[in-house]
Amino acid sequence: MQSMVDYAHSELSRYLPCACAVDFTLGQGNDTLFLSQYADTVYAFDIQQKAIELSSRRINSQNVHLVLDSHVHFDRYVESFDVGIFNLGYMPGISHEVTTVLETTQKAIKKAVECMRQAIVIVVYIGHAAGAQEGQWLEEYCSSLDSHRFNVSTYRMMNKRQAPYVITIEKR
Ligand SMILES: C[S@@+](CC[C@H](N)C(=O)[O-])C[C@H]1O[C@@H](n2cnc3c(N)ncnc32)[C@H](O)[C@@H]1O
Repeated sequence: MQSMVDYAHSELSRYLPCACAVDFTLGQGNDTLFLSQYADTVYAFDIQQKAIELSSRRINSQNVHLVLDSHVHFDRYVESFDVGIFNLGYMPGISHEVTTVLETTQKAIKKAVECMRQAIVIVVYIGHAAGAQEGQWLEEYCSSLDSHRFNVSTYRMMNKRQAPYVITIEKR
């Protein structure tokens, strides 16, 4: 079975190559590095300086813009994009205190759904308090999206309820 991150990347691949991709949660840059190989331009956001430092050591492509700002403000930098990824939660091994939180995640995802040309992929970690709230909201929000406009799918382990899982929201 593929790991959730590998599955998320295989989902992204369905829309690649593309003109513009967005990584809404840069972290250590794994997703950005992946996207930078297939997208003409990548915008990657994180609120931690540490994420920008760690990622800029690994990624020095001219086509990648590392932005120290909340993903809520992504539309200040990019009007629309082809594919995006939200890898929610905290940066493993670096800081468990700085995590994505429901209030900003909600706003950013709602905006991203309106600005995407193709799809967004969301990796959800429900094994911590903030993640459980995000997971609950995502269940309600994603199941309420208009099925004439969007296809929404999930990939999860049915026998491990607390394990991370992946949601794909695709424009029809
Ligand atoms: C699970 S990590 C991301 C992993 C990353 N995509 C990678 O490939 O290594 C989640 C990241 O989201 C960041 N984050 C939390 N709130 C944020 C926000 N409002 N805007 C942008 N990034 C945020 C955290 O600082 C953390 O680095």
